Amino acid sequence: MPVNKFPGRFITFEGGEGGGKSVQLARFAEYLRARGQDVVTTREPGGTPVGKEIRRLLVEGDKDKFDEVAETLLFYADRRINLSKIVFPALKAGKCVLSDRFNDSTIAYQYYGSAKFADTSVMDGLYKIVAGDFKPDLTFLLDIDPRLGLARSFRKAETMDIKELRFENVDISFHERLRRGYLELAAAAPERFVIIDASKSMDEVAAAVINAYERRAATLRR
Ligand code: TMP
Repeated sequence: MPVNKFPGRFITFEGGEGGGKSVQLARFAEYLRARGQDVVTTREPGGTPVGKEIRRLLVEGDKDKFDEVAETLLFYADRRINLSKIVFPALKAGKCVLSDRFNDSTIAYQYYGSAKFADTSVMDGLYKIVAGDFKPDLTFLLDIDPRLGLARSFRKAETMDIKELRFENVDISFHERLRRGYLELAAAAPERFVIIDASKSMDEVAAAVINAYERRAATLRR
């Protein structure tokens, strides 16, 4: 069974659009730091300077500007850089790393969402190349009805003049498929996933994340 063999913990936040991952990750980081933990936060795509350039290619512009194979390769290139420059060094140093998205996003979006790959063998092969046997210790899935999540996302993009809407602009069935995909991934790995209802208020979601973490903390490796 693949594991994280480093001394530090690796915790990921996953989910469709508008589930509030970034805010919740920041709040959870604050909670851990207040308890004396050395926390490093990162994101995919875009956790490193080169990754930011890859991110721009992936999240801006026309949804059909490249196909699912090119898109998948770019996500794994970004993942490799993020793992080698940020995640692995921090975990080796015993820090707790929180990542806004990781490999489950690729399975949810590029496999379940795009529905253009026959199976996950392309992703599984690439994952092995970029990460070997490494896996997160814990994954919070911020689950939300895509209609509600997308409405939140578009509202935020308008008020903050955000242009990163390439995936938001794909049709609703894509977002429904990826949500079901995430729920299947969570059902297949209950020891790693915690499903959080992200339709609730920010404070309620933050409390649910902390409660779930406290319940799981005893069973985590360290
Ligand atoms: P973010 O807006 O949550 O930072 O994520 C950027 C977009 O990239 C989001 O629409 C989800 C998408 N994405 C994938 O399609 N596959 C992946 O592997 C990752 C990490 C993100």
